[in-house]
Amino acid sequence: MCGIAGYIGQRNAVEVAVDQLRRLEYRGYDSAGVAVQVGSEIEIVKKAGTIRFLTEELASNPKDGRCAIGHSRWATHGGPTDANAHPHFDQDQHIALIHNGIIENYAELKDEMIARGHTFRSQTDSEVAAYVIGDEYRHGGTLLDAVRRAVRRFRGAYALVVVSDSEPETIVAARNASPLIIGFGEGENLLASDIPALLPYTRSVMALEEGHLAEITRDTVKIIDGDGHHVPLAPQHIDWDIAAAERGGYDHFMLKEIHEQPEVIRACLAGRIDGKGGVRLEGVFSDNVWNEIDRVNIIACGTAYHAGLMGKHLFEKLLRLPTDVYYSSEFRYGDPVLSPRSLAIFVSQSGETADTLAALRLCKSRRIRTLGIVNVVGSSIARECDRTIATQAGPEISVASTKAYTAQVIVLSLLALHIAQVQETPGLRVADWLSELQLLPGHAAKVLEVEESVKALAEQLKDMPLCFFLGRGADAYVGYEGALKLKEIAYIPTQESPAGEMKHGPLALIQAGVVSLFGATDPATTDKVVSNIKEVQARSGTVLAVTSDTTGAIKKAADLVIEFAPTKFDFLNALLSVIPMQLLAYYVAKLNGCSIDQPRNLAKSVTVE
Ligand code: AGP
Repeated sequence: MCGIAGYIGQRNAVEVAVDQLRRLEYRGYDSAGVAVQVGSEIEIVKKAGTIRFLTEELASNPKDGRCAIGHSRWATHGGPTDANAHPHFDQDQHIALIHNGIIENYAELKDEMIARGHTFRSQTDSEVAAYVIGDEYRHGGTLLDAVRRAVRRFRGAYALVVVSDSEPETIVAARNASPLIIGFGEGENLLASDIPALLPYTRSVMALEEGHLAEITRDTVKIIDGDGHHVPLAPQHIDWDIAAAERGGYDHFMLKEIHEQPEVIRACLAGRIDGKGGVRLEGVFSDNVWNEIDRVNIIACGTAYHAGLMGKHLFEKLLRLPTDVYYSSEFRYGDPVLSPRSLAIFVSQSGETADTLAALRLCKSRRIRTLGIVNVVGSSIARECDRTIATQAGPEISVASTKAYTAQVIVLSLLALHIAQVQETPGLRVADWLSELQLLPGHAAKVLEVEESVKALAEQLKDMPLCFFLGRGADAYVGYEGALKLKEIAYIPTQESPAGEMKHGPLALIQAGVVSLFGATDPATTDKVVSNIKEVQARSGTVLAVTSDTTGAIKKAADLVIEFAPTKFDFLNALLSVIPMQLLAYYVAKLNGCSIDQPRNLAKSVTVE
């Protein structure tokens, strides 16, 4: 996610803002910039690339002011360029804005502005927000009033920070779903998107609540709600060290990223569901292409491969579109048979996985259409695919992929619904799926409430010699991902397969002490899964079920159970079942003293063969 910084006080504000951005670098970014009030002017310096490029620019063009805001950008709308970097001016260059999040209705707002003769300098939704605030500012009142009126016109998740040349040494901020924290100093006050950027200056902080706005000067902080009512200040003292603060207070990035999944689902959907119950995927192929495609090949590695299997399940079940999923490393050496009317989809968190990049280049050499589903905008795979859809999961620091997997499956679901919309697939109500997807963040947050019971289970199971991951249909595919988590961070051997496959060999491995985790979220296979559970128990195996079953049959059959409330769609219940599996892997690894964020032998991005 992007980083936000802001400072007002007696120090050199640009130096403080840049120092704050440096303390947010762990979050990942691809451009950075500052806006500073110099006399009655606002000056902006911003550069694509790392903060080093920004500081080189500032060294040759030093700025000295007492009020500055800074931003490190993780590209979502528009690539990592100087023009797309923040801050952004409004149309008259009297206001500078920085922004985290996504303004979902930015396209409509931009069209309104263009219709009124405005031109834009960037491809970002953030610049549109600056123009809307500039528009409101001209209608009178303070900058705070203008921002309060403007945010009523926005849909989506945002943290906005604004300065104006008409209100010196004043920073205005607004928060909706993207974090913003105020730091209280002596004769100075600060702002940041995350606590590490405040700690060197103050440990007295206060998070801005949803829908609240703040007006900050060097000696005052005023907070109001969306209706303009005063909100009492309630600063709290933070005693974290910097490292703990970078993990948001969690012991490991992996746990932080598991818990970020509700927010990531929301960010992944943001801007992609129009107000009329339809999907709006920008920058994908034109409709006639979707009507022409006769086969889909999904190519990926590891967790991304498991997400691809979920895509296969959906493309074939919803669209009856034949879909193959390949390991990238196999695909590139397998001399694959590819239909000229097929689409090759490359799923990759990093966008730099060597095997996947090589597979992409093979497909391009055969003139196959290529689509990337990538988290790192501007990465090699994102750049070389004909089209790319960003997963918008924010930087994933832990080697073990969690939130990126969920985001990949959400994007594949949106793509399936987009194709259904174009092809007018009979019997498929896209609007129903979309309204359920919009409830998914809440469902995911509910599933995270099983954390304490999973922690207790991990105590019981941490010494298991072998763990099966079993399921049917999408539950089997999610089990593959759950198995990879347990393998890669807890180093526990796993045996993952469709549950029906047990009797064809794997059953021989079942004995006392061996645990079998069954994903069981599909009512259509409950009876079969209960039979498989009994097969395992008849051979002294221990069964743990992860289930959204409401009949009680699974819970009755299993020895141990993790239950969560179902959504309307079995496929989404299967996706949600990955969260308890991620948590189980995490707590078993933690109890066994494993190096969780950096597991042995593994790297976050495998850029070599
Ligand atoms: C998953 O936890 C691993 N980090 C690994 O399997 C990873 O998914 C795989 O290397 C693919 O990486 P990518 O998504 O960046 O291409």
